Amino acid sequence: ELGTYPHYMIKEINEQPQVMRKIIKEYQDDNGDFKIDDAIIKQLNDADRLYIIAAGTSYHAGLIGKEYIEKWAGVPTEVHVASEFVYNTPLLSEKPLFIFISQSGETADSRAVLVDIKEKGYPALTITNVVGSTLSREADQTLILHAGPEIAVASTKAYVAQIAVLSIVAAVTARELGKKSDLNLMSELGKVTTAITSVIDDASTIEEIVKNFLETTRNAFFIGRTMDYYVGLEGALKLKEISYIQAEGFAGGELKHGTIALIEDGTPVFSLITQEKVNLNTRGNAQEVAARGANVCTIAMEGLEQEGDSYIIPRVDEMLTPLVSVVVYQLISYYAALHRGNDVDKPRNLAKSVTVE
Ligand code: M6R
Repeated sequence: ELGTYPHYMIKEINEQPQVMRKIIKEYQDDNGDFKIDDAIIKQLNDADRLYIIAAGTSYHAGLIGKEYIEKWAGVPTEVHVASEFVYNTPLLSEKPLFIFISQSGETADSRAVLVDIKEKGYPALTITNVVGSTLSREADQTLILHAGPEIAVASTKAYVAQIAVLSIVAAVTARELGKKSDLNLMSELGKVTTAITSVIDDASTIEEIVKNFLETTRNAFFIGRTMDYYVGLEGALKLKEISYIQAEGFAGGELKHGTIALIEDGTPVFSLITQEKVNLNTRGNAQEVAARGANVCTIAMEGLEQEGDSYIIPRVDEMLTPLVSVVVYQLISYYAALHRGNDVDKPRNLAKSVTVE
């Protein structure tokens, strides 16, 4: 199964362009437009508010999905960590639709919410990689991620698949609601696929970044704003999960409200710049930490780069940058874990699916 790859994680990172192509194909109709089942469109049209429920990496994908659904389709959407939602349910709208995002479809925290909302008679849609999984069987409708089996504990290709499927859900919902859009999602996802390939082909440059920024450190920070903030949360989770480096993701503007106290000489700070609107704000925050000794690694999108940036990702539509920028963080985590001699695919204390609450 592993073929020539030394680990499942690097195999799964490398499979991401293929996963993107598969999703683009699976979600197309005969006319070459994106489609999803009529029953799911009805669920989405009937809802006055969407509640995305998930854990870990799937929760991070949900944060991006909310942006698509609200910005493109105009449907109010909340994203909740399953383990909190179940014991601290917020006020619900009159006609909620619950969307469960789960690679495995077996996460106990998410299932607890599903059981609860089904008892209350609310509709549910599951987005999962595993056909026939518990969350899929128990929800009214399912969307499949088509990422193929994900074996490494650290989720990579499932996250990219979740974001791609959520972008299609949002675009189809927008179309059904008669919203006009300048974005040709089909061709933009094609460009994203090419961009992911180019980052993967450049893995040796990213390995050098690990040598320069993470070889001996005990902690690391990830900053960014809007989409880049959400990707930073995922980058930090990935890094701590397999390298055991204490890592935290922060909204760039929030760092100075306390966390900046932790910056010492040489503390690595990854600063992600893919959104023009907040480019200079995040750069300002990076300068603040650099002035206190931080070792800042700036990852910028082509067109927004400045001299001294450590890595440039190819230009794609600003809403879709998480699909590309996350690959840089996945590779950074992989090499950081590898250089520390850790078990990349089976990190300590963790299981692939968390089936206890
Ligand atoms: O199977 P799920 O997507 O429901 O799993 C949720 C989390 O346990 C999972 O994403 C976890 O955070 C990953 N190991 C992160 O890489």
